[in-house]
Amino acid sequence: MSDEIDNIAELEHQAKDELKKTKSADELEAWRVRYLGRKSKIVNILRSLAGYPIEQRKTIGEYANKAKIGLTAQMSYQKGHIDSSAHQILERAKIDVTLPGEPCQLGRLHPTTRTIKEICDIFVSMGFQIVEGPEVEWEYYNFEALNMPAEHPARDGFATLWVDYQTETGARPMLMRTHTSPVQIRTMEKIKPPVRVVAPGRVYRYEATDATHEWMFSQVEGFAVDRNITMADLKGTLFEFARRLFGQDRKCRFRCDYFPFVEPGVEIAIDCFMCGGKGCRLCGNTGWIEILGAGMIHPEVLRGCGIDPEEYSGFAFGMGVERIPILRYGIDDIRLFYANDLRFLKQF
Ligand code: DAH
Repeated sequence: MSDEIDNIAELEHQAKDELKKTKSADELEAWRVRYLGRKSKIVNILRSLAGYPIEQRKTIGEYANKAKIGLTAQMSYQKGHIDSSAHQILERAKIDVTLPGEPCQLGRLHPTTRTIKEICDIFVSMGFQIVEGPEVEWEYYNFEALNMPAEHPARDGFATLWVDYQTETGARPMLMRTHTSPVQIRTMEKIKPPVRVVAPGRVYRYEATDATHEWMFSQVEGFAVDRNITMADLKGTLFEFARRLFGQDRKCRFRCDYFPFVEPGVEIAIDCFMCGGKGCRLCGNTGWIEILGAGMIHPEVLRGCGIDPEEYSGFAFGMGVERIPILRYGIDDIRLFYANDLRFLKQF
């Protein structure tokens, strides 16, 4: 019997020695199979106990079991040791540089942003600078200073979103700007002529939305003030702009229009780039597409900004931004621009 016990002790000793030398999960597993697996010596001894007389069976069994339990405990200790060893941590953190990378979706600019950039780039190349103004605006800048005093009928053309602004001295009328023209006033108050500016930005209208109306859209405003600026400067600048944006062979049409802040006021159209002027769905069978409003800045507007209209003159213009991609790409619903539908946005 003591032979058996000695054998087990010897085995246990050897197993412990080898356990200490294991360095990886694989080596540990091989060790487990060898010393604690179904075909290991200890398990064999336990299995053959039935062949021993009862007294021996008890002693050997107890001894072998203790050895098995002891080795199992040591194995889990060694496992913890291996798992936390620097080598294993490095092994797990290893990067396979041959694996294909995660595909990275490229973002793109919103069609409105792209168009604003395109418009501004053309004017910047002509010597204009870019200026921005606030979207929440005083009534004074949006209407009053633009020659639209209270009760002026032209105010009806701008469905206005009013903002209550209460001060200690009472309410001061504020609104969401209905056009970018107030930036003209803010700029002329600060920068004395000569000045050439383009002002892109969002504008707001209190409007029920449908395929051709949005309550928020974008405009680009522009103006130039200096001595001796004439209608010829307006025409030359804006025709050149229209041709750079829509193609050098475009014809431009120049007609009278009315805006309170300019005198005279004009509307500029290009011949339809779809039908070449014959008349089609895009141009509503007129052959012409209106692209912007403009005019010579009204003397009252200049005077209100502290600029003497006897000495200086200027021209101004304003255009809707979304209208340009709508025309170019045949987009049939302006609401698509701000619906955040990636299927739409990804096409640009
Ligand atoms: N602000 C006008 C609008 O929203 C557009 C406009 C017309 C701007 C004529 C101008 C201009 O500067 O001269 O309808």
